[in-house]
Amino acid sequence: MTIRPILTAPDPRLKAVSTGVDKVDDEIRRLIDDMADSMYEADGIGLAAIQIGVPKRVIVMDLDQKSGNRNPRAYVNPKIVWASDEVATFEEGCLSVPEIWEDVDRPARIKCEYLDRDGKLQTLEADGLLATCLQHEMDHLEGVLFIDHISKLKRSMAMRKLQKAKRLKETG
Ligand code: NI
Repeated sequence: MTIRPILTAPDPRLKAVSTGVDKVDDEIRRLIDDMADSMYEADGIGLAAIQIGVPKRVIVMDLDQKSGNRNPRAYVNPKIVWASDEVATFEEGCLSVPEIWEDVDRPARIKCEYLDRDGKLQTLEADGLLATCLQHEMDHLEGVLFIDHISKLKRSMAMRKLQKAKRLKETG
């Protein structure tokens, strides 16, 4: 159980396409535990392995923690097998793009397949925040950030804000 630093944009590693996991073994379970610790430490609700610099197709999410119960869930090699035409808009943020929040449109409902922490194949139908978070985290596995879904103008404004915040942190 180790808290690992979270990469922030424009770190080029965040653009990497992550590779699939061959086998969910103890090494992957250790990675999952480190990711969960790092996510809780940073007050996040989801984290992809690449955000701590590990280019593997592993996601950890916990949408229940606000109620005081920690219930981290791991999604290994997640894949969307169906997505609705209907779209939902949520204001998204990301631990790798701190202090930026923007509305993003995504399919409102999805069906996905993944391996759980025991390596068992699971299918999941999701809507609402769960559907949005899963798609946001799965984007990370392709090297895509939520700000890649917004207009170029908004994105460059967001990146300037981020750079400024980083500079303040370094000097302050
Ligand atoms: Ni993110």
